[in-house]
Amino acid sequence: MNVVSPLKLPEAFETGISSIDEEHKGLIADLNDYLSSFQQEAIGDFDKVFPVIIADFEEHFAAEEQLMAEAGYSGLERHIRHHQQILVELHTLLERCRERGTAETGDVIVFFQKIIDDVSKADMKFVEFLLTENRLTEFKSR
Ligand SMILES: [Fe+2]
Ligand SMILES: [Fe+2]
Repeated sequence: MNVVSPLKLPEAFETGISSIDEEHKGLIADLNDYLSSFQQEAIGDFDKVFPVIIADFEEHFAAEEQLMAEAGYSGLERHIRHHQQILVELHTLLERCRERGTAETGDVIVFFQKIIDDVSKADMKFVEFLLTENRLTEFKSR
């Protein structure tokens, strides 16, 4: 299968908060590394890799929630539910791969789509909140 060219976070999806942006890019870089290993072996060792990626998502979500709590973000509860929903979906994906005994490129792309979901549906709302409160500068280098 022709593997997609490297996954990339669209520029419009940069929050402007460096720690958050770096974490999104780090997660995507790991997905790209894993995708490139698919070219050598059709079946990846997904059951070793996916749990690690899911743990990295959890770590990223926890860091965001911490930052949002510090900011007194009014949408925090909703954001936490959104993160939990993504994690449930990723665990379901892992279970499905286990049932099949294999993972495909499309499964890795789902992880990428979840990052895009996180940014576009939730993280950007936090940025809007900071902008409304005129506090984005305060969080830029966090
Ligand atoms: Fe995020
Ligand atoms: Fe988020």
